[in-house]
Amino acid sequence: MAPRWAPPAGLVLLVLLLASAVSGDKPLRGGPSGAGKEPESSSAIFPLYGDVYPHGLYYVSMNIGNPSRPYFLDVDTGSDLTWLQCDAPCVSCNKVPHPLYRPIKNKLVPCVDQLCASLHGGLSGRHKCDSPHQQCDYEIRYADQGSSIGVLVNDSFALRLANSSVVRPSLAFGCGYDQQVGSSSEVSPTDGVLGLGSGSISLLSQLKKHGISKNVVGHCLSLRGGGFLFFGDDLVPYSRATWAPMARSAFRNYYSPGSASLYFGGRSLGVRPMEVVFDSGSSFTYFAAQPYQALVSALKGGLSRTLKEVSDPSLPLCWKGKKPFKSVLDVKKEFKSLVLSFANGKKALMEIPPENYLIVTKYGNACLGILNGSEVGLKDLNILGDITMQDQMVIYDNERGQIGWIRAPCDRIPNDNTIHGFEEGYCWPQFPGIIGLPNEDCPAYYRSNIV
Ligand SMILES: *[C@@H]1O[C@H](CO)[C@@H](O)[C@H](O)[C@H]1NC(C)=O
Ligand SMILES: *[C@@H]1O[C@H](CO)[C@@H](O)[C@H](O)[C@H]1NC(C)=O
Ligand SMILES: *[C@@H]1O[C@H](CO)[C@@H](O)[C@H](O)[C@H]1NC(C)=O
Repeated sequence: MAPRWAPPAGLVLLVLLLASAVSGDKPLRGGPSGAGKEPESSSAIFPLYGDVYPHGLYYVSMNIGNPSRPYFLDVDTGSDLTWLQCDAPCVSCNKVPHPLYRPIKNKLVPCVDQLCASLHGGLSGRHKCDSPHQQCDYEIRYADQGSSIGVLVNDSFALRLANSSVVRPSLAFGCGYDQQVGSSSEVSPTDGVLGLGSGSISLLSQLKKHGISKNVVGHCLSLRGGGFLFFGDDLVPYSRATWAPMARSAFRNYYSPGSASLYFGGRSLGVRPMEVVFDSGSSFTYFAAQPYQALVSALKGGLSRTLKEVSDPSLPLCWKGKKPFKSVLDVKKEFKSLVLSFANGKKALMEIPPENYLIVTKYGNACLGILNGSEVGLKDLNILGDITMQDQMVIYDNERGQIGWIRAPCDRIPNDNTIHGFEEGYCWPQFPGIIGLPNEDCPAYYRSNIV
């Protein structure tokens, strides 16, 4: 869907507000099941496909329609609306992996529907609806300049739940008939976007309304490609994950644990606290100009002489070694870990080891996967993208209003037997240099890279 390998590379599916906005669409914050009158809900787990390099995205296969057909959807926690490239008929569509979705006329969502109002509120702050029978048109724009114009429709999604039932709720999503992303002749790896933000148009909020799952979503993106996505809280390792309350600002509907201080190799980089957003729709991580500059200086200052800066078409800042690197493991000992320390959480630290900020390209160079957000117009926002969330389970818990993370081997999809045993085998991240937590019995794999 987006120009993927022209630098600055990768998708950035973070929705941009079209007009200065009013954020009217706050998530449900019931707390962990108040009166106990909520319907029993279950979880759903999906395998993920894709990787950070060379594909630049993680996607899921969902069965939609009646009869249901599979579609590949880019997993995006940076926006609310799920949409498919759509034969409505199509004005401008990319070549997609499956035949275009065909809407059925009586499945159009009318603009008087509350979901349409909340969609418009989240996108532009303006909701126009002149007659009750009018359809719900929308235009969505992402931070990477991609956009889609479409109409809201309602169709069934087939979901297999962890309790082994298959449910087919009717959910509202976008039928996008006019996409502007790169050139329209470009082949898109996905048929559309899976919007998992916190607004009420989000699939997650709709599943909660149908009593199917809790308003909780998590993903585990594997460093080796693939991984898994889940809705609901059965898999969530509540007691072992690191949690920070979600921060809300008046202008943004993003998943953010608020602002963080940045450390490199155990030392503060001395930059202003950074406002951080978690966005699975972004391939790479973006820092605002000041922390980006500080990071690049610190990195360059700390490298051994065996590494030489080299130009590589993949990303702006790359190094080569004596021999081409085969994987990040060949080069990670040359680099130090970054740590984000979130002010809102109690000791809420996120370790970013070299494999969570470097890629090794097909030319055998190591490149920095943290990019200058100012160059793409992100201003003061800092985005943690897929590269940084790999091999961590990241949980967006809209029920309790918190975001959590924990190191995990993401290439193992938990099966039914392990759902409740998922807390075993993981350990707290260790940051002796910063907060002096004692070393617990963590496997060496997780300890190897702490400075
Ligand atoms: C599984 O959960 C769904 C959603 O809560 C529920 O409708 C269904 O009855 C459950 N199935 C079983 C077998 O318990
Ligand atoms: C979607 O369709 C279902 C079943 O046809 C209907 O009950 C529901 O009200 C519709 N939702 C919207 C938003 O139109
Ligand atoms: C980051 O981008 C901004 C805006 O283009 C630019 O002024 C700044 O020099 C860049 N920083 C670095 C370290 O390249």
